[in-house]
Amino acid sequence: MPGESVTARAEDALRQALGEVEAARDAQELDRVRVRWLGRKGQISELLGQLGKLPAEERVEAGAAANRAKSQVSDALQEKLRTFRDQELRRRLEDERIDITAPGARLARGTLHPLTQLQYEIEDIFRSLGFEIVDGPEVEREYYNFEALNIPAHHPARDLQDTYWLTDGNVLRTHTSPVQIRAMETRRPPFRVLAPGRVYRNESLDASHEHTFYQVEGLYVDQDVSLSHMAGILTGFLEALFGEEVHVRLRPGYFPFVEPGCELDFQCLLCRGKGCPACKRTGWVEMCGCGLVHPNVLRHGRIDPGLWSGFAFGLGLNRLAMMRYGIPDIRLFQSGDLAFLNQF
Ligand code: FA5
Repeated sequence: MPGESVTARAEDALRQALGEVEAARDAQELDRVRVRWLGRKGQISELLGQLGKLPAEERVEAGAAANRAKSQVSDALQEKLRTFRDQELRRRLEDERIDITAPGARLARGTLHPLTQLQYEIEDIFRSLGFEIVDGPEVEREYYNFEALNIPAHHPARDLQDTYWLTDGNVLRTHTSPVQIRAMETRRPPFRVLAPGRVYRNESLDASHEHTFYQVEGLYVDQDVSLSHMAGILTGFLEALFGEEVHVRLRPGYFPFVEPGCELDFQCLLCRGKGCPACKRTGWVEMCGCGLVHPNVLRHGRIDPGLWSGFAFGLGLNRLAMMRYGIPDIRLFQSGDLAFLNQF
């Protein structure tokens, strides 16, 4: 009020300002209170500005009152601001609390593809039998896929495997047998290699035929190797794989790169040879093509057939996995169907 003394106005201002500080509900409101009273044009600041114009006898008392108002309001503002900050901190600590004892979110975990699992198992068994695991290209030269394997151009045996030809004259390998030649070229006998890998054939598809499938090739080169060595190693492999006694039989089979050529069957483990749906009631399950390495093939691998001999075999990994896990359709392997894959 204009007529009122500065002292009285300062005391008034102090009371009002403290009331507003008390009533402020958040930091913004508090800041507005600060500006209103202590800002550059705030009411208490203005009172302080007027002190110089007062007569000396009034100035002492008015100065004390105005300065008291300034410092008390300022203290009250700071105190209140501290309260707001504490409240905010407590709220955030509560809201953002992390329960380190809460169980974590379960991560979806993948597994190896069933074919990979079986491949690794087979590799381990053959490694324990002294075999080295080797690899070869899937895009293969015609020479390695056919010619070096004793299948010259125009030979009817080329029709046994429907081939994907590439425009540059190479092929998608139709079997893992070309790795035999590559292994022979880079090793001196005696040696034993195992070559698992993907192969391709331009087939009509059904429950047991895929265009893209996996084979495991074996090659054993030493002196005086016979079919009994081959039968012994393959029986040992099957017994290690199935964990029980296995009976095998050899039937004649034609593959230009082995002589004699055979098909190896093992007695059905489910019916013990009596005949059941799993073995198509024959009592036997086809396992692989095999035989003694043809002398021409040894020559192509730069190995003297007068000094060395060997056996080779090639098994279909998909068909073995189907038997092992009871999978009814070969096309499931490449379906990407998680309901299928999650079972392994
Ligand atoms: C061969 O591929 C010979 N290279 C195997 C061989 C190696 C014989 C060494 C002698 C010495 P074959 O075409 O039969 O042979 O195929 C071998 C195996 O591959 C078959 O027993 C079968 O299990 C699998 N197989 C063949 N075609 C398909 C197909 N379309 N889908 C899935 N598996 C197949």
